[in-house]
Amino acid sequence: MAVSASDMTPQALAALLSFYADSGVEDLCEDAAIDRFEQSAALAQSRSQARPQPAAAGSRPSSGPPPAQRPATPAMRPGAAVAAQPMTPAPQASQLTIPNEAAFEDARALAASATTIAELRAALDGFTGCNLRHSAKTLVFADGNPEADVMFIGEAPGREEDIQGAPFVGRAGQLLDRMLGAIGLSRDTAYITNMIPWRPPGNRTPAPHEIELCRPFIERHVALAAPKIVVMLGNVASKSLLGTDKGILSLRGTWMEYQAGDARIPALPTLHPAYLLRNPAQKRLVWADLLSLQERIEQMKVG
Ligand code: URA
Repeated sequence: MAVSASDMTPQALAALLSFYADSGVEDLCEDAAIDRFEQSAALAQSRSQARPQPAAAGSRPSSGPPPAQRPATPAMRPGAAVAAQPMTPAPQASQLTIPNEAAFEDARALAASATTIAELRAALDGFTGCNLRHSAKTLVFADGNPEADVMFIGEAPGREEDIQGAPFVGRAGQLLDRMLGAIGLSRDTAYITNMIPWRPPGNRTPAPHEIELCRPFIERHVALAAPKIVVMLGNVASKSLLGTDKGILSLRGTWMEYQAGDARIPALPTLHPAYLLRNPAQKRLVWADLLSLQERIEQMKVG
């Protein structure tokens, strides 16, 4: 039997929602798909019935059916399951944009206009061409030391990052911190960011056009931070920044070069910590990559 929100006390409802959150439920949906077209047609019809009709001679103006008689849409059902309540209000249709060449040009122009990392952050904040910003709570820009020798680039923020507004602060971030610590790095001596600064809904993989829209910003970010080494974490960052179709399992562990403006920066693709959480046996591969990174850092200090 479906749980009915209307039968529950606020305390019971809060307890149920926090149970869902603890169980990893992040995005709440209906049991069955909602036909929004049908809903809006029903709404339009009930509005037009509610509108005063031109009075026929001698008759009272119609006031339309009382609310109780209006067609109940699935979202209005009195006994709708708790899961029917959306957590994040849907973006207004007027906020959403269909990515077009103007949006890509806007991204390129905004990114190029930034001459400091602070300006780049402000430019991203002002960029409205990527719809992900409307479903995300915060802009997740970067963390760590922007003057560090090593810059780590992940994929996109997850739920915790979206809440806290900083990259890699959830479980994958805790593992990243341990990976850094294993070779003597920390957030004081490393700079951390993502390809995409807004959380994709439900943590889905960013779509190719979203990656392309955000690309000018991450490219400018690397150029402005000017690290001595870039580490790409996972498939999305490695493939898109290195411009290759090869998967991360064949890319990882091989030193490459990343072109940032005029500079060519040594770049190391490796496995994403979130992947390691799902595939702990692969940690041995990352351990080899981390040792290689540590060696490179040592060589840089000497040379
Ligand atoms: N995964 C990422 O790629 N980036 C984050 O910030 C968190 C998880």
